[in-house]
Amino acid sequence: MGCNSNPLLPKIGIVKDIRRETSDVKTFTVVTEDGSDFFDYEPGQCAMVSVFPVGEALFSITSSPTRKGFLEFSVKELGTVTKALHQIEPGTKIGIRGPYGKGFPRDFMKGKDILFIAGGIALAPLRSLINYCMDNRDDFGKIDIIYGSRSSDDLIQKVEIFENWPKVRDTDVHLTVDVASDDWDGNVGFVPAFLEELNPDPAGKVTVTCGPPIMIKFVLQSLEKMGYQPENIITTLEMKMKCGVGKCGRCNIGDKYVCKEGPVFSLEQLQQMPPEF
Ligand SMILES: Cc1cc2nc3c(=O)[nH]c(=O)nc-3n(C[C@H](O)[C@H](O)[C@H](O)COP(=O)(O)OP(=O)(O)OC[C@H]3O[C@@H](n4cnc5c(N)ncnc54)[C@H](O)[C@@H]3O)c2cc1C
Ligand code: FES
Repeated sequence: MGCNSNPLLPKIGIVKDIRRETSDVKTFTVVTEDGSDFFDYEPGQCAMVSVFPVGEALFSITSSPTRKGFLEFSVKELGTVTKALHQIEPGTKIGIRGPYGKGFPRDFMKGKDILFIAGGIALAPLRSLINYCMDNRDDFGKIDIIYGSRSSDDLIQKVEIFENWPKVRDTDVHLTVDVASDDWDGNVGFVPAFLEELNPDPAGKVTVTCGPPIMIKFVLQSLEKMGYQPENIITTLEMKMKCGVGKCGRCNIGDKYVCKEGPVFSLEQLQQMPPEF
């Protein structure tokens, strides 16, 4: 499972590149000292990142396993560890352990149309799967990406959402912002309302969604109203986690440890769990 025999022992990574995405989000590209891969992983899995000597925090791996030799994380500045990460420079050594959790059900999604729905920094876990789909384009049907943020300044991965992904065949990117600036000519409105306006046909489609809890709540309601079946609605949860390996009991919902059995769940699975998320 992990990169070491002791799953709690981090591997050393060197931060090769740091991209500022928004006022409070940066994307970090990390490589190993000898250029090898850290570990094999699946889109949707996470890794624990440590900033020495401050501490560690869990992040979705936002790079795709189809693109080798590095890992990427998009990190929002929030508290102790994320603030320390935002202060480091390229060349800094950090710790990486993982991969943790279950990834997206790629075999189940194969051959189907895919509807991605993301809000804010939560494009990060979906981006790994989106680029995986782009690199295995023949394995999937039509791809639609609905992505929204508070303002255009808060959209992340701008090169991909504006330039790269719309150029891929049978792929449409639909952007929305809560509040428009003068230079914004796209949709204005919340993600669930935009989803209902676009009204994508559920036939033959799997949808994958991630965003702030309030967005997920209303997106799930809209999808069910539009006729999507719970087994075709996939989401990824963000609970507070500490160990990442099912030992500390910080992340459980009922008897399920989100760090081991999630963070990816279908709505069908969530409906069988206590409503604690
Ligand atoms: C499965 C999973 C995937 C994640 N992926 C990403 C990602 O790709 N990018 C990213 O920026 N963050 C991600 N996170 C959240 C990230 O782990 C937290 O933001 C981070 O732990 C905060 O660490 P900190 O030391 O900076 O904040 P702390 O100093 O620990 O906390 C600062 C404040 O944030 C609150 N907080 C801490 N963690 C969370 C959380 N998970 N949810 C809500 N509030 C929290 C604390 O209660 C406190 O109020 C993910 C979390 C999980 C569980
Ligand atoms: S984070 Fe420790 S049990 Fe899940």
